[in-house]
Amino acid sequence: MDRFVVTGPTPLEGEIAVGGAKNAVLPLMAAALLARGETVIENVPDLVDVRFFMTILEELGARCVMVKNQLKIDTTNQDGCNASYDLVRKMRASIYVLGPLLAFHGKARVSLPGGCAWGPRPVNLHLDAMQALGAKLDLDEGYIVGSTSGGLKGTRFRFEPVSVGATANVLMAAVLASGVTELENCAVEPEVTGLAEALVRSGAKIEGIGTANMRIDGVDEIAPLRHRVMADRIEAGTFMAGVAMATGRVTMTGVNAEHLRSVTSVLQDIGCEVVVDQDLITVEMTGRPRAVEVVTRPYPGFPTDMQAQIMAVCALADGTSFMTDTIYHDRFTHVSELNRLGADIRLDGSKATVFGAEKLQGAPVMATDLRASAALVLAGVAAQGVTQVNRVYHIDRGYEKIEIRLAALGANIRREKY
Ligand code: EPZ
Repeated sequence: MDRFVVTGPTPLEGEIAVGGAKNAVLPLMAAALLARGETVIENVPDLVDVRFFMTILEELGARCVMVKNQLKIDTTNQDGCNASYDLVRKMRASIYVLGPLLAFHGKARVSLPGGCAWGPRPVNLHLDAMQALGAKLDLDEGYIVGSTSGGLKGTRFRFEPVSVGATANVLMAAVLASGVTELENCAVEPEVTGLAEALVRSGAKIEGIGTANMRIDGVDEIAPLRHRVMADRIEAGTFMAGVAMATGRVTMTGVNAEHLRSVTSVLQDIGCEVVVDQDLITVEMTGRPRAVEVVTRPYPGFPTDMQAQIMAVCALADGTSFMTDTIYHDRFTHVSELNRLGADIRLDGSKATVFGAEKLQGAPVMATDLRASAALVLAGVAAQGVTQVNRVYHIDRGYEKIEIRLAALGANIRREKY
């Protein structure tokens, strides 16, 4: 296994290009199954999760080729309808193939995803919505076995709670359903909006894109997708949090600042200076972070995917911070690891109280999930001494070459086998 060895404290200085968004590219890859032919996706980050999803699509008869950051998915011979447990259990987002398979083939056999590092992650909304579209779903040995007689049919469905994945999955299914589908309380994350825009460019008929209510007029077929993946707002936010912790000045290029408003606002409350110039964001920090109160919300609220990273910043703040995750009440596996570094964080249900410490002290810590891993790496950059972050395969799922890019900004970090 790999681990990172980080020696701090070092400020972060320089310029960094932000990669394509993991959470935008995964649904786009699933959407390739809605057509026969070659889907071409640009600005694809070379991540473990992307490579993994390519394997799932190949199990379904597609052929995937990634050259640099361009991904081509040829679904001419797509014939499969089976996404096996061994593949799906490793990545929850694999359930994104359910909607496209039911829509295109009229049948699907997709393993129920397991939980994840921080707890159960239900898929009831995905299943309820597919049934509302007329799919017959059975559970057989841990697999969702779906079929449709005469194809999916337009329906009306309301998501409760707001769900990014279920919105994307059902949107893709509705595109080829017969008749009109009205979706209410949809997720409006930029990644969902990007998917809808890509589907429309391929011939889908979708109204209300970017709003909580979308209307989809089903069509008989769509063309293969051509799309450039948007910048990863969470990767950008992660680097911004790094500057807030370690101090310094970093300019990020290729970012859509509009997607980061809630994150930028919190970082400014923390004491960062943030300057936006078109697709450049420059973050500067001197001195100690200020304490803040943060509550995660669906977009455009503060993203749960930035909760761990900002908590790491608050661990060094001058004062007491409060963080509540309303999306995932138990997404706090990073707390005990941050406390190993000298943070003083106490949990009460879905609320964390972070008593700011003057300094953090390097120590061996364990990565548990993608964003917790990122928070621990940032903490290592800011901590006094050496921090070993073990099990970094978690971080490789969502950040491309993060150690190389942080080192280019002045961090003392290396990857080693152990
Ligand atoms: C997406 O996960 C992201 N993953 C997550 O990012 C992100 O944390 C999450 O959205 C919230 O923004 C991808 O896009 C691949 P949800 P998803 O359905 O779709 C409940 C990362 O670090 N829910 O929006 O699985 C659920 O329990 C990952 O990049 C149901 O109750 O999240 C949660 O409380 C981690 N039933 C809330 O909805 C369902 O059927 C939001 O979850 C589905 C979800």
